[in-house]
Amino acid sequence: KYAQTRQVMAIAPVIPVVVVSDAASAVEIARALVAGGIRVIEVTLRTEAGLAAIEAIAQQVDDICVGAGTVWTEAQAEQAIDAGAEFMVSPGIADDVNAVAQARDIAYLPGAQTVSEIAHLKRQGVTATKLFPASVVGGPAAIKAFASVFPDLVFCPTGGIKEDTARDYLALDCVPCVGGSWLVSADAVAGGDWEAVRLAAERAVALSDS
Ligand code: 3PG
Repeated sequence: KYAQTRQVMAIAPVIPVVVVSDAASAVEIARALVAGGIRVIEVTLRTEAGLAAIEAIAQQVDDICVGAGTVWTEAQAEQAIDAGAEFMVSPGIADDVNAVAQARDIAYLPGAQTVSEIAHLKRQGVTATKLFPASVVGGPAAIKAFASVFPDLVFCPTGGIKEDTARDYLALDCVPCVGGSWLVSADAVAGGDWEAVRLAAERAVALSDS
């Protein structure tokens, strides 16, 4: 399972985080990301439509790894996996969600903000954590400092990262990917501008060239 988490992190330099209001546009977003070369998507459970969106993407979009984000409870975790989620993400520590991930053998990326939180996750066997909110916690310099005491861990910094700052995080060996909502802007979704999403995905793929 923890090996699976690193596999999800290896799909693309960015895990796009999306907040959707309906399943139909979620499918369009996922298709645009795939067209741009990003084959992974994290659909947050922050909206009513989140679960239905995960289900629709899992059933209708080929070649994309769909995950559930902002998963806090055991019930949400079970529902997300039943809907077709292939991985789960939490912004912070959610031991119940970790237990479901282990029991159902699914990739899980729990969040941490401090050294003590990372240590807690490490005691549970976690080897990859989301670091949220990355820009507030201290950006790449903070991650470098965390990595010095947790040399065997990898991080997915998320929160406040944009196209122009992603590269600074990705330059670190312990950062296989970052998370971010910038690829799927609220404007693009409101206007049904899937071409803008495709182009943002293409630019995100290019972040790994260095
Ligand atoms: C998340 O849920 O991971 C965050 O909303 C993503 O952060 P960002 O919107 O600052 O990219």
